[in-house]
Amino acid sequence: MKKYFIETYGCQMNVSLSDQLDEKMKQKGFKPSASPEKADFIIVNACSVREHAENRVFQRLLYLHSLKKKKDIKIVATSCFAQNQKENIHSADYILGTYQISSIPDILSNGHRHFLKVEFDEYEFLKPVRNRENPFQSLIDITVGCNNFCSYCIVPYLRGPQISRPSKQIIEEVKRLGDEGVIEIFLLGQNVNSYGKDSSDISFAGLLYKIHEIDNIKRIKFLTSHPKDFDKELIQAVMTLPKLSRWLHLPLQSGSDRVLQLMNRKYSMAHYYDIVDRLRSYKKDFAQSTDILVGFPGETEKDYQETLTAINNIGFDEAFTFKYSPRKGTRSYALTDSVPEKEKRARLENLVRVQRKTEKEKIIRHIGQGCTVLVEGQSKKEKNDAFGRDDCNRVVIIKGQKLKKGEFYPVRITGVKGLTLLGERQ
Ligand code: 5AD
Ligand code: SF4
Repeated sequence: MKKYFIETYGCQMNVSLSDQLDEKMKQKGFKPSASPEKADFIIVNACSVREHAENRVFQRLLYLHSLKKKKDIKIVATSCFAQNQKENIHSADYILGTYQISSIPDILSNGHRHFLKVEFDEYEFLKPVRNRENPFQSLIDITVGCNNFCSYCIVPYLRGPQISRPSKQIIEEVKRLGDEGVIEIFLLGQNVNSYGKDSSDISFAGLLYKIHEIDNIKRIKFLTSHPKDFDKELIQAVMTLPKLSRWLHLPLQSGSDRVLQLMNRKYSMAHYYDIVDRLRSYKKDFAQSTDILVGFPGETEKDYQETLTAINNIGFDEAFTFKYSPRKGTRSYALTDSVPEKEKRARLENLVRVQRKTEKEKIIRHIGQGCTVLVEGQSKKEKNDAFGRDDCNRVVIIKGQKLKKGEFYPVRITGVKGLTLLGERQ
């Protein structure tokens, strides 16, 4: 029996694809390996969104290639990285693009020595599976691809146009997972809230209402939303459906209308503030996270200051911050990468400092409050502490308790450690 090992780099979408591929490999008769060194096939499922990420994968492939001196190992490069770098990957035996992920088990069974396939032919969604470590959770990719063409982003060229998984299939899969013990569902898509816009299916809000009706499912999260598609119907769903996590990840990218336009984001700051105001009018606590990109071509000091003003005004609970990385083939690649590297770094460092301050100020406000935590396991460092996430997707450590994974516990927040909440079971 041939053994395989999957390495995953990049977004939640890749994590989800790897989980599903893993299951399909087992069904096809392959055996999971405990390490890449012991495997016959090493599958590298990797990301291309920034150059830095790609360089790290190239380095990793060199190491994996060196294992061939000891053993007849076959290396498979897949996903966005393979799609983008097809001509430049010399340390892999198989180069399989984003549309080929679901066929990897078949291709590997066929015994080719080398294989390159990156066509956008027929997209086949894989079967969603339970999380291996936490079988009460499941990631489900409900769309693939993206039609937005934000000018800095390479994803639409690598994952192709948006395709929505039929809602009937999603509902059937969620029901099945619920019967298998899943209580928390994470819906994924590059632009998850434009679900259904490429077909005549129901809207994303409509899908949320349907999933909400499934008894066994107790908590629902989704990622990544686009502000331009965050309409009133969806805001209404988020505010009225109690099983929805009270957390929204909504990439802002920039606080300057001028830069947003150059980025082809198709919304203004006024629209973004409107969404935030509506969610904040919600009576209960609501967490928000975002992505910010600094140093976009033509970003002036004034534009950057507008981003700082926006993040100060909004007060995000978490922000993922990036330096602009020019990607060949995107619309902004043709623009002069005008912000010098030193300036980009300074803007990023300052942004991180400002955001950290907000996060510290926000987190201590929870001390003394109660919440409900879905336990995900015991802390690795402190075996007697359990940890999980509350209804707003915040990590909470529950001191001095051995608790059951996949169960909800009422907790009172007693302190913070760094940016993590500490609590006591009630
Ligand atoms: N350079 C830097 N960051 C990028 N992102 C997307 N493309 C680029 C790029 N070319 C960031 C965006 C997106 C997140 C997933 O990655 O902020 O929301
Ligand atoms: Fe890229 Fe924009 Fe699509 Fe997100 S919405 S994947 S940033 S093009």
